[in-house]
Amino acid sequence: MSANAQDATVAGAMLRSGLAPADARVLMRAVLNVDDAFLVAHPEHVLDAAQLARFRAMAVRRREGEPVAYLTGEREFYSLNFRISPAVLIPRPETELLVEAALARLPEDGSSRVLDLATGSGCIAIVLARHRPRAQITATDISAEALALARDNAAAHRARIEFIQSDWFASLAARRFDVIVSNPPYVALADPHLSEGDVRFEPRQALVAGPKGLDAIETLVEHARDHLAAGGWLLFEHGYDQGVCAQAMLGAAGYEQCFTLRDLAGQPRVSGGLTPSRHHL
Ligand SMILES: C[S@@+](CC[C@H](N)C(=O)[O-])C[C@H]1O[C@@H](n2cnc3c(N)ncnc32)[C@H](O)[C@@H]1O
Repeated sequence: MSANAQDATVAGAMLRSGLAPADARVLMRAVLNVDDAFLVAHPEHVLDAAQLARFRAMAVRRREGEPVAYLTGEREFYSLNFRISPAVLIPRPETELLVEAALARLPEDGSSRVLDLATGSGCIAIVLARHRPRAQITATDISAEALALARDNAAAHRARIEFIQSDWFASLAARRFDVIVSNPPYVALADPHLSEGDVRFEPRQALVAGPKGLDAIETLVEHARDHLAAGGWLLFEHGYDQGVCAQAMLGAAGYEQCFTLRDLAGQPRVSGGLTPSRHHL
């Protein structure tokens, strides 16, 4: 096989892409619509001209820093595949901890009212709907583009979810829920990580929350009280260094049984508390 012909094989194109092998594999899988086993079993498979051109174009964009998930248009979360676009945050593995915390508080066979605030791609709401089919799930976001994508994802997973465009609680009137979950923006305005890696390509609105990154969490803690049923839980994700602050805010607002969970890296990542009982007197 000539060098040019070799460049058009799965192994050759990946090797010459200049990408980390893991990235090259994900992009090649997307271009050929195959799984990893195919790539391992058929390194000599020859790409046609259109496939090769698409792979090379994606490789260029990846070398320029674009996240793999935006190039392939998909990302797995809690074992489900979600469509992703630059209008939404790329779902993170840490957020699975928030899902676990919510599932632990939702009855398996009873009904419950759940609100996913700032739903983005819809990943949290959709996983909850799939695991708790009797729950009535409402999901909100301020971004119309994010909501359109979340609706598509819900339809693809046959998840029954009510979507509402809302600036935090503004469009929810006096509605109350048994569990409110949220992965809000929690990055500080001047955080140097904003100019590094994948986050450079994600919507600022999905990441940044004021000078200390706490503005959205403050809103959640303050206003969730007016939208929780008696015995209802507020559960939210936060930065690795915001656990102490989150606990302090929950405590000051009168929430009870406050807790913080650590992610797989051992970092404080999810906090929550039970409706303040005084609030319902
Ligand atoms: C960190 S992303 C979370 C997305 C998704 N829940 C996830 O975990 O992948 C935060 C989301 O908050 C939304 N958002 C930002 N400001 C908002 C506001 N004022 N009201 C409602 N949603 C807002 C953004 O559009 C974005 O989708």
